[in-house]
Amino acid sequence: MGDDRHVIVGSSIRMGKIQDEMTAWLHIHEAKLLKRPLGLYLCAGTPTAAERQRELEDAYREVLRAHAYFVEVVGNGYDFERMGFLDKAIVRMMAKQTVSSLNLDETMLDELVEAAQTSLRTRSENP
Ligand SMILES: Cc1cc2nc3c(=O)[nH]c(=O)nc-3n(C[C@H](O)[C@H](O)[C@H](O)COP(=O)(O)O)c2cc1C
Repeated sequence: MGDDRHVIVGSSIRMGKIQDEMTAWLHIHEAKLLKRPLGLYLCAGTPTAAERQRELEDAYREVLRAHAYFVEVVGNGYDFERMGFLDKAIVRMMAKQTVSSLNLDETMLDELVEAAQTSLRTRSENP
């Protein structure tokens, strides 16, 4: 039996991949996640749609992506307060960012809310 409580999973991309802990967590909980209404998002700095698609495909297994009502990159944030020397150097070089910034994609976040609400409605209409 499924559980109607939603799970929304988010992770960030660093050096092309999500954190190992998240990959392990997704693996352990996959069967349970497949029984729940599910949203999957990433924070990533990538500018191109093709790259964002590749990142989503690498981060979340096909079976989870096929099940989820939302699979998108929702923007990024660079927090220099939380970065060590090496991270700062990488971000300056790769992302050309030198100060902290928050660049959330409001349209995508609205779509996440919309998708979650639609899924909820569908479920209560068809219990
Ligand atoms: C050290 C570092 C490496 C990153 N590498 C990538 C990357 O390879 N691809 C990408 O799309 N974004 C990359 N980003 C951007 C992050 O995905 C984005 O800033 C995200 O919001 C960071 O969240 P976090 O600080 O909670 O991990 C990187 C950011 C940092 C700080």
